[in-house]
Amino acid sequence: MSQQIDLIPAPVSLELRDGHFTISEHCTISCTNPEGLFLAELLREYLQLEHGIELSIVNHSAGAADVINMQLEADSKLQPEEYILIVSRQNVSLRAADPRGLARGIQTIRQQLLLSGSPELPCLEIRDYPRYPYRGMHLDVSRHFFPREFILQYIDLLALYGYNTFHWHLVDDNGWRIEIKSYPRLTEVGAWRADRSGNHWMECAPRQPGEPTTYGGFYTQEEVREVVEYARQRQVTIIPEIEMPGHTMAALAAYPEFSCTGGPFEVCTGSYWPITDIYCAGNDSTFAFLENILLEAMELFPGEYIHIGGDEADKTEWKRCPRCQARIAKENLADVAELQSWFIQRIEKFLLSHNRRLIGWDEILEGGLAPEATVMSWRGMQGGIQAANSGHDVIMTPTSHCYFDYYQAEPEFEPVAIGGYLPLKRVYAFEPTPPGLDPAAAVHILGGQGNVWSEYMPDTDQVEYMLLPRLCALAEVLWSPVNTRDWNSFRKRLQTHYAMFEHKSWNYSRGSHRVEIEPLKTGEGLSLQLVTEQYQPDVRFTLDGSDPDSESPRYHQPLPVKGAMEVRAACFRDEERQGGITRKRITRHLASGMPVHYSTLYSDKYPGAGLLSLVDGLRGELEHRDPAWQGFEQADLEVTIDLGAVIQLERLQVGCLHNQRSWIFLPETVEVALSTDGEKFSQPLEVRCEIDPVDEEPAQVDLTVVLSGSEARFLKVKALNRGLCPEWHPGAGGKAWLFIDEITVE
Ligand code: ACM
Ligand code: ZN
Repeated sequence: MSQQIDLIPAPVSLELRDGHFTISEHCTISCTNPEGLFLAELLREYLQLEHGIELSIVNHSAGAADVINMQLEADSKLQPEEYILIVSRQNVSLRAADPRGLARGIQTIRQQLLLSGSPELPCLEIRDYPRYPYRGMHLDVSRHFFPREFILQYIDLLALYGYNTFHWHLVDDNGWRIEIKSYPRLTEVGAWRADRSGNHWMECAPRQPGEPTTYGGFYTQEEVREVVEYARQRQVTIIPEIEMPGHTMAALAAYPEFSCTGGPFEVCTGSYWPITDIYCAGNDSTFAFLENILLEAMELFPGEYIHIGGDEADKTEWKRCPRCQARIAKENLADVAELQSWFIQRIEKFLLSHNRRLIGWDEILEGGLAPEATVMSWRGMQGGIQAANSGHDVIMTPTSHCYFDYYQAEPEFEPVAIGGYLPLKRVYAFEPTPPGLDPAAAVHILGGQGNVWSEYMPDTDQVEYMLLPRLCALAEVLWSPVNTRDWNSFRKRLQTHYAMFEHKSWNYSRGSHRVEIEPLKTGEGLSLQLVTEQYQPDVRFTLDGSDPDSESPRYHQPLPVKGAMEVRAACFRDEERQGGITRKRITRHLASGMPVHYSTLYSDKYPGAGLLSLVDGLRGELEHRDPAWQGFEQADLEVTIDLGAVIQLERLQVGCLHNQRSWIFLPETVEVALSTDGEKFSQPLEVRCEIDPVDEEPAQVDLTVVLSGSEARFLKVKALNRGLCPEWHPGAGGKAWLFIDEITVE
């Protein structure tokens, strides 16, 4: 048997020993603590279901042979969710201070057995605990409905990878999915819509008069109880989301009287934007309605959190509704943003009075955050940082790293998705705690979560595909110590998980075969690495301008950049090319590979090649997702380049992208100041950009500052971002981007 341990997430500490323990019908499971018995039962079930081995649960003293011994040690020094697993040739011992720790240890045993495909555990000792107390995964069951059996399978998969929270997005514009006994129309009407299966989500015609509503479904309260109990057995908490005040067309189709206009409304068949009909905040009966719904939800879900949504509520109707305006006047509110804040605070008081905590998307910061609210930061990290700095708990789930509805490989080879680009490696690079956050604020970062919005996931196969293997990457980010994170080790371990997915018939993404060219600083020089998401790929390359084939040289080690060069590369398997050919011209200049100091760092949404990106010789394509581009969101580029010695300089050129449809604008000016000592800088030389920002066509523009033989070692380069999208632009007032690929110095 292979002595490789491929567990994901990687345990905090693992010591492998000689020999193994075989689980057979001679063994028993023992747990002398009554409050841990349900977990002994869970392990018994897994062994029976997944390996066909029937074990009985018998009380034994610790140390007896042929026993899997589980022990709760409430008075031990173990932390919450921590467990110690010791496998010897004679027996297995699993210890924890709380049932959650035992539950995590059981999943480690289970995962190891599934990965090896046999009921043998290698002898080992594992001590393990999570980095973050909140490790969540979300699922949207409104845009598409998934049956109860799949929800159970989903929760079981979360448990297998150490997640402890399932965020169940039960309510949205496209369907109300939970039975509420006091308002039966929520599911009679709100759970069903006209069927537009097969249509693109953005092109679904509204329901025609008299057309039956046949697509949908909902979970009865009995089914919800079953799901909650199933999750409890695995020590996974469910956070139900009851959206308000927006994303509520399904509820308003059933009960239009709780809107500002009175309707009538339809359950949306696809995407409509914006949706201006939301709950009326001026009508007290709206709150009675919501409170009754929340009472039933609290009865069903025992966890401390109730998620109330709060995102993307369009306030158009609130601005013209006399009742909403009367509320603003009566409560002395400044505007509709404060009205939303008042709305959420009112709901928070209600939840607190029932000993529950409110959690909402980061829009609940607008107009003032409810006093005890927890914030789910999705529009980047900034909302979370702001909330944490003001003492609120935060879950980080930024679109840049956590939106599993984004493409995970090149769109042209992928099933249609909502957009975006979130490959496995970027998920694995996620850092939920922003560097530089004050330690007092950092303790409020409870963890992170992946979000699975289902607009483009019509069936459970597609949910699995978008989830796997990104779920594994996020699991390790949230559980394992940050200093043990290792992309190469992760990719290697993942190969065994792929085999398990195949064995389980789970539909997973095999990832990208695209060859990326990444710069690497090697001593004084610069080299290029050819990397793919594949493990041990057969990458072939050329340097002579021809396309590579299976006979071209195989890539083994970084290619040194000695001058201008052209690299072409592709991934092969069994002589067949997989995916497209990457073609790049690389330039070499005076700043190639030299240190670049940033006054403000680039955006983590478009990091390019990081600190080397602007001096790596790699130029971007017109496509703004080309990894050569580094993005600055509403921020200037301001860097100092150290050439290492005083050199005579002719010109400096900043490579910029123009693509106003993607909110990317050319800088208004580029400035360069020179210094020989890094302290005293010359008056900046400046070049203005003369290109009309209105132009629809994307373009690459090099802005050149002439240096006329000046001598310098240090170059301070500034490119001014326009700040906000201009008045005439569809994104007027939104944050403008600046995209730079290279600063060429000659
Ligand atoms: C969200 O993605 N609207 C939270
Ligand atoms: Zn109103």
